Amino acid sequence: MDMNPAAVHDMLYALRDPAGLPFFPWAFWGVGILTFAMHFFAVAVMIGGAGVALYGVRQDNPYWRKLGYAMADVSKIAVSVAIVLGVAPLLAVQVYYDPMWYTSNVLSAYWVITFVLALIVAYSLHYVFYFRNKKREGTPKSLWSLGGALLGYLLVGFIMHSLGYQTLSPEKWLQWYAPNGVVDNSGTKLHDFNVIRYVFFILLSVPVIGTYLMAYATYWSTRKDQDAAYLEFAFTLGRKLAMVGAAITTTLAIVYLATLPEKLHAFQTSLWAALWVIGALLPALVAWRAGKAGYRCGYRPFIVAFVGMLLIAIAREMLRYYAVIPYYNFMDYKVNLDWFTTDVFLFTFLVLGFSTLGYLLTVVWKAGKTEGVYEASPIMHVWARFNIGLMVFWTAVYFLLMTIRSF
Ligand code: HEM
Repeated sequence: MDMNPAAVHDMLYALRDPAGLPFFPWAFWGVGILTFAMHFFAVAVMIGGAGVALYGVRQDNPYWRKLGYAMADVSKIAVSVAIVLGVAPLLAVQVYYDPMWYTSNVLSAYWVITFVLALIVAYSLHYVFYFRNKKREGTPKSLWSLGGALLGYLLVGFIMHSLGYQTLSPEKWLQWYAPNGVVDNSGTKLHDFNVIRYVFFILLSVPVIGTYLMAYATYWSTRKDQDAAYLEFAFTLGRKLAMVGAAITTTLAIVYLATLPEKLHAFQTSLWAALWVIGALLPALVAWRAGKAGYRCGYRPFIVAFVGMLLIAIAREMLRYYAVIPYYNFMDYKVNLDWFTTDVFLFTFLVLGFSTLGYLLTVVWKAGKTEGVYEASPIMHVWARFNIGLMVFWTAVYFLLMTIRSF
């Protein structure tokens, strides 16, 4: 039996951090949405890339093989990006929805540990495939390792989906914790999930990798030593994946929204539900339009696919708002303004993060665009030294300020 709303309300407010938040709740909420979109975009490239690789490397067509090996590498790098960018929404959600996030994690504690172990095993398997196929040609060796990695990622994603999904139903927690009045504190069960929603999120990888392939073709098209027919092949495949994938995910989004439980019926007719569907549809529209431009279509499809992901991330978070608002409003969290931690965060994120990551991405971008060996320009050398100085400055000041403040 579900708990009554007043009891759920009292329980959730009792679980809040009495110290309050160091900044306004809407800011954490915004950071959570933005970084979830970034996390999930990387997840989609990772799963989509592994899928294209698994299929591609087994084909006789040399273009498929080349693309397959390239996407196995892209997917491998996307895993690390997904992990790093996964931490950010994790930190955010545990601030503005701490009662929900921690309770869901404690109720399924074994799965939280399994999440970490499965990710380690899956990523290691990905590297087995990489090391066994360094030559990137011929019949693939140890293909099972790439298949195993993909299965591991899907398990990891399912655990994350379930942990997040359990936060939507605090009225059911007591029943999960003590079914029929008997306490079950084993933490071995995933209590709630939604297959359509999970499949929707996983299949978002199809349109996203499609737009990635279109961007991939554009990127290499400026190099004279690249085979135009291969780029055309990558572009055509990408465009097809973007359009077909978006059609499937849009349908899944509609089915998911149409089958929401009764307590979320108000969400179905809200602007947010429309945003969810539009977000899923966007990659198809932009991929369709890019047909005229061919494989030099530019990066717009990939950027628009990210905008679509952002719309989905906003709608997804609004759905949680609708689900818990009868009991809980994150906006009335007590604020204990702490400019020190806020400034450290902003500096780390906006100055250190942008400068160092910007440098790395620029080097990679320029190296790929260069035929032969890439030589960094004087400006790049200055930027590199500036970043090293910035890192030293940040570390020294951070520990100095922390020491001063702890007395
Ligand atoms: C690399 C494999 C991963 C996959 C395939 C994956 C996939 C997913 C999926 C499917 C969702 C749920 C979407 C939904 O139903 O709403 C999700 C949400 C999330 N993931 Fe990941 N994820 C991965 C890794 C990570 C890692 C390593 C972290 C953190 C360190 C992370 C943090 C999150 C967070 C914070 C959420 C949102 C939870 C919420 O708002 O309730 N993920 N991820």
